[in-house]
Parts: sequence; C-alpha cells; structure tokens
Amino acid sequence: MTRSTRSLAAFALCVLGASAFAEPGPLASYDPPLDPAFAKLIANADLKAGARYFERKCSQCHDAEKSGGNFKGPHLWNVIGRMAATREGFRFSPAMKAVKKKWTYATLNYYLADTERAVPGREMNLTGIEDDATRANVIAFLRTLSNAPAELPK
Ligand code: HEC
Repeated sequence: MTRSTRSLAAFALCVLGASAFAEPGPLASYDPPLDPAFAKLIANADLKAGARYFERKCSQCHDAEKSGGNFKGPHLWNVIGRMAATREGFRFSPAMKAVKKKWTYATLNYYLADTERAVPGREMNLTGIEDDATRANVIAFLRTLSNAPAELPK
C-alpha cells in the first residue's frame, strides 16, 4: 500500500465506521486438504437426507433452484467452485467479503461446522452443523445445485 492509499483507507474508516472493514477470519487462511474421512462421508452421502435437512434449516434463507435468486441469503446455485461473497446482487457482510476463498468441499466443511468461528462477524444466523455425517449430506446436496456438479472426492 502506498502512503496515499493508506491515508485514503484511514479516511474511509473514519467516514464509514470500522464496521465497513473486517479482519480476515480463520477461513481466509484455511488451506488443509480435505480430510480423507470426511471425503468418504461425502462420497457415500445420503442425498435425500441432505435435501431434507436443507429444506428444514437452510431454505428459509437460501434459494436452491437454478432459476431462483437471492433471498435473505445468497442464491446457492453453483456455489461450489465460486469465490465466497461473489454472488451478484447480494450484499455480503464485510467479514464474508474478507474471506477471498473458493467454496470447495474443504472450505464448506470448515465453514458449515461452526460459521462464527470460521468467519467471525458473518451475517448468517445459523451456528453450524455439528454432526459430520449430516454436514456431509448437506454438502453433497449443495454439490447437486450446479450446471456441472463438481467431481465427487475419492
Ligand atoms: C437465517 C438465514 C440463514 C440460514 C438459516 C442459513 N443461511 Fe447461509 N447465509 C445467510 C446469509 C445472510 C449469508 C451471507 C453471510 C455474510 O455475508 O456474512 C449466507 C451465506 C452462506 C454461504 C456462502 C455463500 C457465498 O456465496 O459466499 C453458504 C455456503 C451458506 N450460507 C450455506 C448455508 C447452509 C448450507 C445453510 C443450512 C444449513 C444455511 N446457509 C442457513 C443466511 C442464512
């Protein structure tokens, strides 16, 4: 950063308030490969159970239809492979914008296990999905929300 962009940033902070910026949370530097045990859970997931769980716990905020759109939460069609906080037309929190990571099986697993731990300050009002198998079912369901579903982990 040059001196002038730094002072511009400081100025913007004063004008907009500190809440407009966010320190990147742990997800921003989360890089480990997908845990092999969790990969197995995704490969053998119960899709119907994942869809039911999504319907009960996620669909009040997220649209999963291809022809759908943003709602209380961003449209989740094509979410795997997409950079976090880039769904057009949705106002993401500064915390989510600071993530700058692609949604993969590994990053979704980390985020959905405990959303506030992964992205402190996120604006998604859901703690997370504690149970590994349930989380794998939901992620396997998210995979199907795509024009070209990602390869299943081996
Ligand atoms: C009460 C509303 C609400 C519920 C319930 C909810 N979400 Fe969200 N979700 C949001 C909001 C709002 C955001 C944007 C968060 C931000 O900007 O900090 C979000 C963001 C996300 C993202 C990141 C999307 C992107 O494009 O970067 C994923 C993935 C996600 N939610 C999955 C889920 C799943 C899976 C469930 C159910 C287990 C769920 N959400 C339940 C409101 C919700």
